Amino acid sequence: MNQLLDSFGRAHSYLRISVTDRCNYRCVYCMPEEGMNWAPRAEILTYEEIGRIVGVVAKMGVSKVRITGGEPTVRSDILSLIATVAATRGINDVAMTTNGHTLAKLAPQLVAAGLSRLNISIDSLNRRRFALLTRGGSLDRVLAGIRAARDSGLTPIKLNVVMLRGHNEDELFDFVDFCAGHAEDTQLRFIEYMPFEQRRYQTVPSDELRQRLMARYTTVVGPMRNQNDGPAEGIILVESGLHVGFISPLSEHFCATCNRLRLMANGHLRTCLAHEDTPSLRDLIRYGASDTQLSEAIQAMVLGKPIGHACEVEGGTVFEGTMTAIGG
Ligand code: 5AD
Ligand code: SF4
Repeated sequence: MNQLLDSFGRAHSYLRISVTDRCNYRCVYCMPEEGMNWAPRAEILTYEEIGRIVGVVAKMGVSKVRITGGEPTVRSDILSLIATVAATRGINDVAMTTNGHTLAKLAPQLVAAGLSRLNISIDSLNRRRFALLTRGGSLDRVLAGIRAARDSGLTPIKLNVVMLRGHNEDELFDFVDFCAGHAEDTQLRFIEYMPFEQRRYQTVPSDELRQRLMARYTTVVGPMRNQNDGPAEGIILVESGLHVGFISPLSEHFCATCNRLRLMANGHLRTCLAHEDTPSLRDLIRYGASDTQLSEAIQAMVLGKPIGHACEVEGGTVFEGTMTAIGG
């Protein structure tokens, strides 16, 4: 089997694709209220170009793809891209991360297009606070979206919560209560806030949340990681059976097992979230590169992947670029 190895022996089987840097929400930790300088259309990879890159990396050992943004559903005809990716030989898992705003309508269409699973971001269960944190988002719509995703069988659904010190950490048990009755098809995941360019909020370390949960519920360590679990080390709350994962890029660096590559909306391939050493596959394609040349360029970029990042819960470095262009 082909393997896309870096110089530290890490094999890359997982590609995240940011299809747009735009979003219909303006989460406080993600972008400024007025939005950003969106990349002009011509700078964004076309679906044809994305499809070509996916075909190339699938031959190099990538088997799992996640569609992200910005908000992927704001790009027109996202279903056709999902269908293309899902139909690519070698790709056996196509997931998407969304804010859920349009899911109530979209969920069955996503299934029909070949999507396997969904992650949905939800940072508060309080309507007013949700609107503040997303700057105008609608909790009711997202809740309807979550229900629609469950009904469509896009499961297990993972609900992503970014805890911000002093803003929503008091809702820890509310999130558990919200998911507890749906443990068979819903998982809860807490993501540590990562400072991009500047540290605007304080990160709540995963272990603090884990300890609070362990003090309140009977817990066991989650099942062994498998390829699809990603970096979320989990626990299971025995009373409800709920699986709670923690993504701890700051407090528990998972760089050593990093198997991911990120294709940015503008065609740059990020081998590491923390480093802007990102040559453009878009330019290569538009200059007429063959699939072999693309494949060689990707292998060379992966060989240049750094060993890890140096961002800490407090201090260390910050991440470069913007989350919306990189895709989380
Ligand atoms: N730190 C941590 N998570 C973030 N996300 C967006 N910006 C940040 C950040 N600065 C999350 C979103 C979404 C996922 C793709 O990444 O909330 O759940
Ligand atoms: Fe949009 Fe997600 Fe950023 Fe919120 S975190 S503004 S939903 S891209």
